[in-house]
Amino acid sequence: MSTHAAPAQRITLRDLAAKKDAGERIVMVTAYDHPSAQIAEEAGVDIVLVGDSAAMTVLGYDSTVPVTVDEMLMLTAAVRRGLTRPLLIGDLPFGSYEASDEIAIATAQRFVKEAGVDLVKIERGGTTVDRARALVNAGIPVVGHVGLTPQTATALGGYRAQGRTAEAAVAVIDDALALQSAGVSLLVIEAVPSEVTAALMPLLDIPVIGIGAGADADGQVLVFHDLLGMYDGAAAKFVKRYADLRGAALEGVAAYTDEVRRGVYPAPEHRYRMPEGEAARLAELLRKIP
Ligand code: KIV
Repeated sequence: MSTHAAPAQRITLRDLAAKKDAGERIVMVTAYDHPSAQIAEEAGVDIVLVGDSAAMTVLGYDSTVPVTVDEMLMLTAAVRRGLTRPLLIGDLPFGSYEASDEIAIATAQRFVKEAGVDLVKIERGGTTVDRARALVNAGIPVVGHVGLTPQTATALGGYRAQGRTAEAAVAVIDDALALQSAGVSLLVIEAVPSEVTAALMPLLDIPVIGIGAGADADGQVLVFHDLLGMYDGAAAKFVKRYADLRGAALEGVAAYTDEVRRGVYPAPEHRYRMPEGEAARLAELLRKIP
């Protein structure tokens, strides 16, 4: 009899469609490295996104704009190595897909080949709809992202909710419908009034994942560092903190700092010892050194 547990089945797009049809909520979270991927897997999430929010959460940039393809690939490959079951989405960074279909396909293929993603995510409607269609035709599953699109936040007037007037809401809905027509498999909708999501849902067949978009979407996504309280300062209105990891980490490193300075750490139980008699032999050998 084999002692190996059966490998966990990778979640598929078909599974997500079945969840949507059954009204089962889909859970997505971001991750940026191997340990966060393992935590997401063990917690049972359905989808992991290596978001370009990595630019801010782990790389210290002040927006998502500067992060490069190579930086994203390194983080995404680390996440891949930590995942078995959840679907993995790679976020194509700003400037890596917009200029032409050829550039979009070449970038997305790197994410598939070098980082093992299942889908790639691109932001906005407009010309991104053409890029989405080209990627789908090239055999690469795509996630669209509408509403607040952080890569072009400056053009949207900053990090603020979108679709607040009826006309602006129609623009968000038009983007979503155009992306669905282009063949995207999944849609992220960020920072819109809940009425906009409620109006959009009956119009779409693909699963919709909300972030700051109310409770009507098929699922929710939050940034790992936001939900675990691993940041300094205020979070967006829609973030719920489920832990205070920054506080716990700060307390731990401060206690270590204090104990090293006071000579409390390392204690006897943290030290290696030579076998019986070896310390005496060492002293003897040292006495012979001229
Ligand atoms: O980059 C990111 O983390 C995202 C999510 C907020 C959806 O795009």
